[in-house]
Amino acid sequence: MRSYTLTAPAKINLYLEIIGDRPDGYHELAMILQSIDLADQIELHSISTDSIRIYCDHPQVPTDENNLAYQAAELMATQFPEAFSKHGGIEITINKHIPIAAGLAGGSTNAAAVLVGIDLLWNLGLTQSELEELGASLGSDVPFCVAGGTVIATGRGEQLSPLPNLDNIYIVLAKYRSLEVSTAWAYKTYRQQFGNSYIRNTEDLAARAAAVHSGGIVKAIFAKNTAEIAQKLHNDLERVVLPAYPQVLQLREVFATQEGVLGTMMSGSGPTVFALLESEQQAQAVKLKMREIIPDEDLELFVTRMTTHGIQIVSSV
Ligand code: C5P
Repeated sequence: MRSYTLTAPAKINLYLEIIGDRPDGYHELAMILQSIDLADQIELHSISTDSIRIYCDHPQVPTDENNLAYQAAELMATQFPEAFSKHGGIEITINKHIPIAAGLAGGSTNAAAVLVGIDLLWNLGLTQSELEELGASLGSDVPFCVAGGTVIATGRGEQLSPLPNLDNIYIVLAKYRSLEVSTAWAYKTYRQQFGNSYIRNTEDLAARAAAVHSGGIVKAIFAKNTAEIAQKLHNDLERVVLPAYPQVLQLREVFATQEGVLGTMMSGSGPTVFALLESEQQAQAVKLKMREIIPDEDLELFVTRMTTHGIQIVSSV
């Protein structure tokens, strides 16, 4: 096979708790991550020159080594030099549908697709956990993007524990096109403001991370109780992002008053805000209502739903 097309779904955070600091400078987290239907398409071709080339239809996506997908291809080339010299370089085409710098793991899911695609292209036969391990060196969300579904993520976000699949829950996403929040800024500001309440003892840190497994939202996920899941949404990063970005707070407030909205929350470090609904019809109605209440062309709205998978092959030639 010389070419693969893959679908790379975005994610939302149903739960994000910051527990403490890590010796590597990152934060110890307890999260619940959820794949959604909104996805990019990634095409991978072997090329005769030994270079990595990226093409993307979105002008703001870098096509050089600043793109995580480029870094993923470079990582595979260094990890598997024999396969790289045997099969040649890689051409990666990204068809962007996921908003960028949005808290939806758009870059991470593209990188995950490149890892999965190169494994296939070079017949490496890597296991899912080997792919996840490679992904962890690229970014905290990459291992989840390989696996997908509904997952508890602890540690930096790379230690994954699957939950029962959720797929029949509809989502409206709202994001101001021109608004971007730096993830590094959000975590740094959180540490400055709330670092004194971090858990410092290693055993207590582990106990707190383990507690998420028996927490209210996990119980609601096992019970497939959408209303209860929506009630238990949580994101510690809202404490720093909402005061700094009043537009994000406004989206959340407007969502909360719409008929059919069971719960609303910012995803990851934002600035995307999502609302959960029981049906597609309700989701479409809320999208229309949001557009009516906030007639700003900068506001992007999407209707999507939860999905049970991560990276999938669409076609191979
Ligand atoms: O791993 P990733 O590159 O996605 O992380 C982006 C930034 O978010 C990091 O540079 C770090 O500042 C912050 N972060 C953190 N703790 C985590 C994950 C991310 O502090 N567990």
